[in-house]
Amino acid sequence: MKFRKKILCIGAGYVGAPSNVMIAYKCPDYKVTVVDINAQRIAAWNSDHLPVYEPGLEELVLQTRGRNLFFSTDIEKQIAENDIIFVCVNTPTKTFGAGAGMAADLQYWEKTARQILENSKSPKIVIEKSTLPIKTALAMERILSSGKGDITFDVLSNPEFMAEGTAINDLENPDRVLIGSHETESGVAARAQLVEIYSRWVSPEKIITSNIWSAELSKLVANAFLAQRVSSINSISALCEKADADISEVARAVGTDTRIGAKFLKAGIGFGGSCFKKDILNLVYLCHSYGLPEVAAYWESVVKINEYQQERFIANVLRSMFNTLAGKKICLLGFSFKADTADTRESPAINITRMLLAEHAEVIITDPKALGNAAIDLANDKGKISFIEDPYQAAAGCHALAMMTDWDLYRKLDYRKIYKSMVKPAFIFDGRNIIDQQKCFEIGFNVFPIGKPALTHF
Ligand SMILES: NC(=O)c1ccc[n+]([C@@H]2O[C@H](COP(=O)([O-])OP(=O)(O)OC[C@H]3O[C@@H](n4cnc5c(N)ncnc54)[C@H](O)[C@@H]3O)[C@@H](O)[C@H]2O)c1
Repeated sequence: MKFRKKILCIGAGYVGAPSNVMIAYKCPDYKVTVVDINAQRIAAWNSDHLPVYEPGLEELVLQTRGRNLFFSTDIEKQIAENDIIFVCVNTPTKTFGAGAGMAADLQYWEKTARQILENSKSPKIVIEKSTLPIKTALAMERILSSGKGDITFDVLSNPEFMAEGTAINDLENPDRVLIGSHETESGVAARAQLVEIYSRWVSPEKIITSNIWSAELSKLVANAFLAQRVSSINSISALCEKADADISEVARAVGTDTRIGAKFLKAGIGFGGSCFKKDILNLVYLCHSYGLPEVAAYWESVVKINEYQQERFIANVLRSMFNTLAGKKICLLGFSFKADTADTRESPAINITRMLLAEHAEVIITDPKALGNAAIDLANDKGKISFIEDPYQAAAGCHALAMMTDWDLYRKLDYRKIYKSMVKPAFIFDGRNIIDQQKCFEIGFNVFPIGKPALTHF
């Protein structure tokens, strides 16, 4: 079959693969190839066991793979053959040198830019989909224009706003698609090609175009605002616990104000995931580098409250369980950073496990999808940890349950059966406020919610 256009995606991770699967699904006349340096990941994308779990993703892969969607490790050949290139490589927080612990580590991204330059024999549109510091497109353009040939490259910024766990729905029905470009003739023409792709399924008023720096910055700011709401409600949950208010009631009263809105106002053990913390720290670093220490401090406090919330959670577990956890069995319900994903990157459960181990507790971890990743995350941690997929088996013989992830499954467990199998007095620390706390209290549990009075039998 002759395809109308050929699209390449570099980086077959949580963003690159699902977003390009969606393009392949919506544009059957486009050939979409996804490449990665990680051969194991590519093999998994070509197998029956996809490396990323997202509701609805497998069905789309099965419909498109081999038709107009291909996964490959031959990056150089694919760069040469394709006209439109999405760059979706990872941009983690730098762990070394200047800006360590804050700035974005751009080594993977820069390698890709150089690889594109070296292997291009025809003009390309290069699209930043990774989340990047403002002005990265300028650096990309400088690298791409450093070649001797006369090949032209147009760089666009098209940050991805999908959320893990709801990626397919978010990609199919986005709130908006943002495309940043230069206002030059070729910039506008390149932008039009990308608009054409999204127009296949996204209505025109949802496709926003902007200047390239605004697009880069908007992604960092969107994540910073989302995380800020989580930290804002969590900070108030601490106050509720002291003052006998109920965070759910406060969130409801506040969120019904249409100027504020009800979303992202659920108190819990804090945000996780690969993006929020990394992107805020990146923003903080940018503010420092532009000489704006007050702005940097404002955003940094969002991360500090997130850490405080986890420390507070463990302090509460320790205090409530008679100030000693040594030798006690604590069952963590969930390990992924949120429901409907196996992703455990920056999951609060990692820190909480480590804090429990530091108290010499025995940690039993259960999760319907994330136990493989949990075992990798904790491979170097010393202490007693076990991984049990069945929540009933995991909870049996434990002193306490600690809710880490808002999996729907945990709302529906038979807590009476679980209670019977546990050591008494039995505790539940509902780090996500998802269980029927009153019912669990009536069953016999001592229940410790977030931001609400505890329900105890003492
Ligand atoms: N995960 C999310 O929910 C999300 C949402 C929006 C934006 N983002 C951003 O998208 C980017 C990617 O995130 P992710 O979660 O998909 O990361 P990921 O780690 O899951 O995937 C990145 C992939 O890029 C590959 N890679 C790295 N260097 C490469 C190279 N030179 N050539 C080919 N492949 C290479 C890696 O092997 C990896 O498979 C990041 O900048 C992130 O901030 C992520």
